[in-house]
Amino acid sequence: MSDTQPGLQRLVVVSNRLPVALKKVDDAWAVKQGAGGLVTAMAPVLKNRGGAWIGWAGASSDPDMDVDGLLSDFCSDAGYDLATVPLTKQEVDDYYFGFSNEIIWPLFHDLQTRCRFHPRYWRAYLDVNFKFAEVVARKSTPDDYIWVQDYHLMHQAFFLKSMGVKRNTGFFLHIPFPPPDIFMKLPWRWKVIQALTEYDLVGFQTVQDRRNFMGCLQRLMPEAKAEGRGAVVTVTVGNRRFRLGAFPISIDYNQFSGLAKRPEVAQQAFDVKEALRHRKIILGVDRLDYTKGIPERIQSFHTLLRRYPDMVGKVNFIQIAVPSREEVDEYKELRQEIEQLVGRVNGEFSFPGWVPVHYHYRSLPHEELVAYYSAADIGLVTPLRDGMNLVAKEYCACNNSGSGVLVLSEFAGAAAQLQKHAYLVNPYDMEGIAKALHRALHWGRDERKASMLKLREQVRKNNIFWWVDSFLQAGISKKLDDFPEIET
Ligand code: ADP
Ligand code: G6P
Repeated sequence: MSDTQPGLQRLVVVSNRLPVALKKVDDAWAVKQGAGGLVTAMAPVLKNRGGAWIGWAGASSDPDMDVDGLLSDFCSDAGYDLATVPLTKQEVDDYYFGFSNEIIWPLFHDLQTRCRFHPRYWRAYLDVNFKFAEVVARKSTPDDYIWVQDYHLMHQAFFLKSMGVKRNTGFFLHIPFPPPDIFMKLPWRWKVIQALTEYDLVGFQTVQDRRNFMGCLQRLMPEAKAEGRGAVVTVTVGNRRFRLGAFPISIDYNQFSGLAKRPEVAQQAFDVKEALRHRKIILGVDRLDYTKGIPERIQSFHTLLRRYPDMVGKVNFIQIAVPSREEVDEYKELRQEIEQLVGRVNGEFSFPGWVPVHYHYRSLPHEELVAYYSAADIGLVTPLRDGMNLVAKEYCACNNSGSGVLVLSEFAGAAAQLQKHAYLVNPYDMEGIAKALHRALHWGRDERKASMLKLREQVRKNNIFWWVDSFLQAGISKKLDDFPEIET
C-alpha cells in the first residue's frame, strides 16, 4: 500500500449500475439516467475527479446493439471514461434480478421472507463477477485505485487476485449489512465473507453496519480480530490484514442548495404551492421499492386525516415515485398496492377543490425535484430499512428557507447522523407517524428553523466530497490517526 495522497491515484469506479442506462422505447434504444442513490452519489465524484467508471449498460446485450455508439454523446461530455460490461439475458435474469435483487437486496434489508435462494443465481453471480473482474484488469493499471460499489460485485478483489492481478482495492456497501442472525441464512455466507476480506478496505454506511459485519466475520472465522478505535479499524484474519470503516455517504450539498436558489426553480416551487392553494405540503420521494415503506406512509397520512379532523382540507401529501426494477413481479404488485391506497384515501376525503394525495409515478427532471423539495413543509422519509437514504439529505439541502421539518425513519442509515434534529419515527407505527405529522405541522417557526439549520449544517459539512476523501484516505494512506468517530 503506498502512502499517496487521496488526490493522486486515478480512480476506477466499478458498479453494476452506470450513471446512464439503455432502455428500449418503442423498438428503439434510448439513453436514460440511471436511477438510485449510488448514481446520485458517485456521478459528482467522477465528474469532479475524473477517472473511469466500469459497469453494465442496463440492458441485456443484443448483437445489433451498438453500445459505444449509443453512449458516445454521454461519454464525450462526462469528463471521465466509461467502460461497459455486456451481459446476456440469462446473466441479467440470474445475477441481477436473481442473486442481487431476490437474495442480497431483501436479506440485507432484513426482509428474509422475500428471498429466493436458487443455487443457479449464485453460479451466475460468480460468473458475472469474474466477467467484471476481467474488464477491470484490462482497463486499469497497478497504479489505479479500484473502488468497487455495492452488493452486486462483492467478489471483485477475490477474482482479481485469483487472476494474479495486483491492485489497491476498496469496497463500499451502499445498503445495510445485516446482523449475524440474518446473514447466517445465506447459503453462501462463508464465501461472501471471505471474498470481502480480500479487499484492502471495506466501507459501510454506519458504525452499526460495520459492527454487524465484524460479528458475522467472527462467527464464521473466530480467529478474526479488530484493532483500533474510531471510524476505521484494522482487521487481522489468518495472514490477511485489511481495514473496515464507516463512511456515511452523502450528496453534493452546494449543487442541491444552489439549484433551489435559482429564480426559475424558486418560481417552480411557488407554482407548486400556488396550485395547492398554499396548503401545507408533506412530501415523499423514493424509488418505488418495498424497502421504502410507501404503503405504510400512505396509511399513516390516511390515519392523520381520520384522527385529526382539523387537518382535512388543510394539507396535501405528494408522493413522487421513480419506476424501479419494473420487470419484477413484487415491484409490479407494490405499484398496484400503492395506486389502490392512493385511490382509497382520495375516495374517502376529496372534495371539490381539494384532493389530499397527489401521486406521480415517474422520474422527474432534477430541477423539478428540487422545486418540490423546497416547496414542501415536511419531508416524510420512512423506509422500513435503508443503507443511508439520500432523499433525507437532499430535502435538507434544498430547504434554504430553513422552515421545513424532516420526519425520518429510525431505520434509515441517515438517522445515525441526523437523529438529533430530525423528527424520528418508527416506519411500521402508522399511528405514531400520524401523530408526528400532526405535531410537526404545528411546530413554531423558530423551533423548525433551529432544527433545520443544524440538519443543513451537518449535510453541508459531511457532503459527498468529504465522503470520498474519508474513504480514499482510509484506502490509500498508511496512517489511521485521522479517523475520529463519525460525527452525529
Ligand atoms: P436508493 O439508493 O435506495 O434509491 P436514496 O434515497 O439513497 O435511495 O436515493 C434515491 C435517489 O433517487 C435520490 O438521489 C433521489 O433524488 C432520486 N429520486 C428518487 N425519486 C425520484 C424521482 N421521481 N425522480 C428523480 N429522481 C428521483
Ligand atoms: C440502490 C442500490 C444501488 C442501485 C439502486 C437502483 O441505491 O444501492 O446499487 O443501483 O438502488 O437500483 P437498480 O437495481 O435499478 O440498479
